[in-house]
Amino acid sequence: MCGIIGYTGSLDARDIILNGLEQLEYRGYDSAGITLRDGDKSFTKKKAGPVSILRKHCNTDEALGFNCGLGHTRWATHGGVSDVNSHPHIAGNVSLIHNGIIENYHSISKDYGFEDELISDTDSEVAARLINHFYNGDPYDAIKKAVAVIKGSYAFCIIFNDIPDKIFCVRQVSPLVATHADEGSFVASDVTAIISYTNRYFVVPEERIITLTAEGITICDFDGIPEEPDMLEVNWNVESAQKNGYPHYMLKEIHEQPDSLRSTIMPRLKKNIPDFTEDGISDEIFINCNKISIIACGTAMYAGMVGKYMMEPLLKIPVSVNIASEYRYENPILDENTLVIVISQSGETIDTLAALRLAKEYGAKTLSIVNVKGSTIARESDYVFYTHAGPEIAVASTKAYTVQLASLYLIGCRMALVRGKYTPAIAALFTAKLLESIPAINKILLNNSEIKDAAKHIMNATDVFFIGRGLDYAFSLEGSLKLKEISYIHAEAYAAGELKHGTIALIEENTPVVALATQDQIFSKTISNIREVKARGAFVILITKENAVVSDDVYDIHFTVPMKYDRFTVFPVAVIMQLLAYYTSDLKGHDVDKPRNLAKSVTVE
Ligand code: M6R
Repeated sequence: MCGIIGYTGSLDARDIILNGLEQLEYRGYDSAGITLRDGDKSFTKKKAGPVSILRKHCNTDEALGFNCGLGHTRWATHGGVSDVNSHPHIAGNVSLIHNGIIENYHSISKDYGFEDELISDTDSEVAARLINHFYNGDPYDAIKKAVAVIKGSYAFCIIFNDIPDKIFCVRQVSPLVATHADEGSFVASDVTAIISYTNRYFVVPEERIITLTAEGITICDFDGIPEEPDMLEVNWNVESAQKNGYPHYMLKEIHEQPDSLRSTIMPRLKKNIPDFTEDGISDEIFINCNKISIIACGTAMYAGMVGKYMMEPLLKIPVSVNIASEYRYENPILDENTLVIVISQSGETIDTLAALRLAKEYGAKTLSIVNVKGSTIARESDYVFYTHAGPEIAVASTKAYTVQLASLYLIGCRMALVRGKYTPAIAALFTAKLLESIPAINKILLNNSEIKDAAKHIMNATDVFFIGRGLDYAFSLEGSLKLKEISYIHAEAYAAGELKHGTIALIEENTPVVALATQDQIFSKTISNIREVKARGAFVILITKENAVVSDDVYDIHFTVPMKYDRFTVFPVAVIMQLLAYYTSDLKGHDVDKPRNLAKSVTVE
């Protein structure tokens, strides 16, 4: 949520900051702003709308010749989308950009008498005023005093007017990374903004103040004691974070799934058996648990739902899936014998992080499945299983979902093995079937024109229903989320057998129903449910396995997935549903990669 970038160095700051903002725009795209400094000279512009609008306003000689600056792309929380609410916020000596939420901003502005001075409706301006209030020439002292008052989450980057070549940063919960390269020093919400300069960076530690100069970066704690950074390295390059000829990131990321799956699965197979020795994940957590709680949000949670349906019958222990934002408030039942699996692409989602912290308080063992290396959730979990999907830029999650599924499948298989449910031979057979998902996805990707045609039947609908039973129901949850978040069509997933208890009243002539029937055990029951909606006029888009025998009066469009094994059909099914959502959104003329009201990483509660 909100993208922030700061730069000080030998190059022209305007272009570095605007280019960085474009890379970070997926974090929030309501408005954008920039402030540039060089001695007494300054340039500040703040504009509602995308970074491209800000860029136009910076296309002036007045914005040239600066070596230090800050940039921000906003996802509005406090205060509407407007120029004035955009960052940076300037208060006296202080220019500040902020990612996060200041919970006590009302009381701060009252206690410190800012109420009549505020020109925006944001909590962030209050922080700028507070730091300026404490500033008497010592930036460390002012920042330290301000953060002692502030409650909430924040990543602040600050330039003081009388120190125009330095950037000071501090964070609590909200993400911030920094690096020094030949071109100068950089700070940003995430590495996508700095990857074109270096692949080495560090996560700004909490309760530390970092200072960026053209020559380097220093870190010190609130007592002024200096520290060395823990450097990390990203294993992807700048091309991975670009569209590479695809019209949208989402389409590119859908097509990257075979590679992402290979990169996630292959390093974990030893003689075809899942082995997490190199991840440092101990089998003890798999053996000594009597219950699994999966915690996540959105797509990651729906991956968890598939995990539950896959793991419970395999392991014969209870597996619950919990919405992270609810988890904290429902007095969860867990103890040291519970294995908590936390799933998050970004590793930053604050609801998921809070649930993870709660689980640790209860003494549960925590294992996170995370895509972003060094992210907070990864660092705070007892064990981390990294997915190797590379950067996911489109707001709608696609490749992260399938690698999360693959991770859960590998974990489920390893657990079955170490708990004596599987022999090594059966575990090897399981992974062989899992690997068959890769050619199956490739086949769907090669024949996607029919999916585009199907999207034409959906694009003008007001409601779309996704139905299935068992695992198919778990898959359909993600299908409906994908469609609604990027096409803005109301979509819901229902257990097919439950329709007749109420929801079927919503089916009218031509209501699209995406019906999943890939599970042999309940195939005929699902087909009966599909007949029920068809009889009421539904336009049925049916997805089955290739060998399924189905009469052509049950559907209007029929897709098949080249996957023989019920448990693994989710991979190609997911790709069909992703493409259906993608083409529907694109046909409707929406900004597929940046759907309204959303942002990629949700770092507010
Ligand atoms: O980064 P996370 O995996 O923790 O994010 C969780 C959700 O916010 C995310 O999956 C969201 O639902 C996506 N927009 C779905 O496409």
